[in-house]
Amino acid sequence: MAIPRSQYLSSVWRDGIFDGKVIFCTGGGGTICSAQVRAMVHLGANACIIGRNVAKTEAMAKSIATARKGAKVIGIGEVDVRRIDTLEKAVERTVKELGGIDYVIAGAAGNFLSPISGLSANAFKTVIDIDTIGSYNTLKATLPQLLISAAKNPNTATNPSTGGRIIFISATFHYTGMPLQTHAAVAKAGVDALSASVALEYGPRGITSNVLTPGPIAGTEGMARLGGSQPEGAGNPLQRWGSVKEIADGTVYLFSDTGSYVNGEVLVVDGGGWRAPASMGSQEMAYPGFLLADLSTKAKL
Ligand code: HXC
Repeated sequence: MAIPRSQYLSSVWRDGIFDGKVIFCTGGGGTICSAQVRAMVHLGANACIIGRNVAKTEAMAKSIATARKGAKVIGIGEVDVRRIDTLEKAVERTVKELGGIDYVIAGAAGNFLSPISGLSANAFKTVIDIDTIGSYNTLKATLPQLLISAAKNPNTATNPSTGGRIIFISATFHYTGMPLQTHAAVAKAGVDALSASVALEYGPRGITSNVLTPGPIAGTEGMARLGGSQPEGAGNPLQRWGSVKEIADGTVYLFSDTGSYVNGEVLVVDGGGWRAPASMGSQEMAYPGFLLADLSTKAKL
């Protein structure tokens, strides 16, 4: 059954704005990325979502396809972003079946809570490999297609048309440092640097590269895996966790005409949580309740 639009996309966006376009998304089987892709498909795009689990990825592709009559959505579930050859094969299939790639979301991530004392060298490396190297591999594998798209859709003041755009999904851990998240903080710092460098190096060829950073979002699988639940006051000034719709809306903003002059930026959609000062109860802001609980019970620092 189709999920109602109001759950994953605001009413302000016009149907058809991504007609004829194709989006390629890693981590597309997850709660946040699937909502981003669902929104793009609703507005006209066809899509390829990538994951490591065949059944989950294919089922999600089918579900996303219900967002628009006639939508084509491929789910490829044998891809590990740590292996560029698997990504290259997925890109090849996407081009063959959907005709090219105009937008990319590098969304695949791996995470768990652990103090430094509990992190083996391989545990640390695994998260860097998935988040940082995986984002780089996603860029490398899709770049030739992004360049073709950007050349077809020149982004000028009089024609701010879309195409040749990439969004990297990041976090705010590394702005302050984060206990139990050293591995993810280091990995996401690399992702932010990667995006900024792409923006500078490929801007002259019409590509835009930006980071979209979700704060705590209600109902995500990732948060559930980390054992997170919404604390009282939600740990941010807006006093609530965000919705997947609010991340999807940010995505449409960056990929559509509205975002044509945004390049090398970080769009943080976290209710202002990471900025909150101590006077606003920033212990809870900076360290959501479940992190604090973990710190006291399991982190022998
Ligand atoms: C310490 C751990 C660990 C843990 C795994 N390791 N879990 N160390 N604490 N809880 C160690 C293992 O012992 C091993 O090291 C190394 O990490 C690799 O583990 P594997 O299980 O072999 O790796 P793999 O099968 O590739 O799985 C990768 C993974 C896993 C990251 C460990 O959790 C995963 O597949 N996650 C994908 C989904 C995911 O995490 N999504 C969350 C994204 S959400 P040794 O030394 O033993 O070999 C997100 C936003 C979070 O990122 C927002 C938070 C506020």
